[in-house]
Amino acid sequence: MLETRDLHKSYQTGEARVDALRGITLKILPGEIIAITGPSGCGKSTLLHILGALDTPSSGQIYLEGHPLHSLDDDKLTALRRLKLGFVFQFFHLLPTLTVEENVLLPLLLSGRVNAAARERAHNLLTSVSLADRSHHRPHQLSGGQLQRAAIARALIHQPSILLADEPTGNLDSASSTAVIDLITSLARQEKTTVVIVTHSEKVAAAASRRISLVDGRIQS
Ligand SMILES: Nc1ncnc2c1ncn2[C@@H]1O[C@H](COP(=O)(O)OP(=O)(O)OP(=O)(O)O)[C@@H](O)[C@H]1O
Ligand SMILES: [Mg+2]
Repeated sequence: MLETRDLHKSYQTGEARVDALRGITLKILPGEIIAITGPSGCGKSTLLHILGALDTPSSGQIYLEGHPLHSLDDDKLTALRRLKLGFVFQFFHLLPTLTVEENVLLPLLLSGRVNAAARERAHNLLTSVSLADRSHHRPHQLSGGQLQRAAIARALIHQPSILLADEPTGNLDSASSTAVIDLITSLARQEKTTVVIVTHSEKVAAAASRRISLVDGRIQS
């Protein structure tokens, strides 16, 4: 599904160089739910962005279902992202001027694939995340947990092969964060989606099928 070989990522800011990833080799199988953990600054978000074709490595190889992401141009990466990847970020990134339903449909709108079937799927996903009655609200009218659930529905609308989440429960209380993780894992199982979650929460990590612990840009275990 997703394989990396000796990934490195360095950032050069003026004189200072930060080696954010120092040789990441891993294999993620279809249907796995992976938790990436580790201290602040160890490279979790950097790795997630590279796995999600949002950024490219400085060296090393990464293959998404056999596609060599390290050597594709921006247009090809964008196309793969739209087709195969779903993202949930800590701060949701819902567009304020769109309704909840329109936000959920956004990944399909971007590739001109909104039709009756897509609208039905949006409705079903919003029902699964208990937001059917909020479809026509705008993001500012929702609570934090509701925004989070809307972001999960949006990430799954185009049936991605892989769902990537960066601290999706970072600003939720313990009960809502358990609910969000249960939701992500049950939807992922239902849809046979591979999931990679960056998290600081022991509880979230415990719910994963495998855990990758990073320290200083390397896999510790
Ligand atoms: N655009 C950038 N330019 C320069 N340095 C960066 C950039 N992005 C990240 N870094 C550095 O790379 C290292 C890894 O950052 P990253 O965001 O991956 O950490 P993280 O594990 O996600 O941390 P956190 O748990 O705090 O979110 C950090 O030292 C960070 O300062
Ligand atoms: Mg981070």
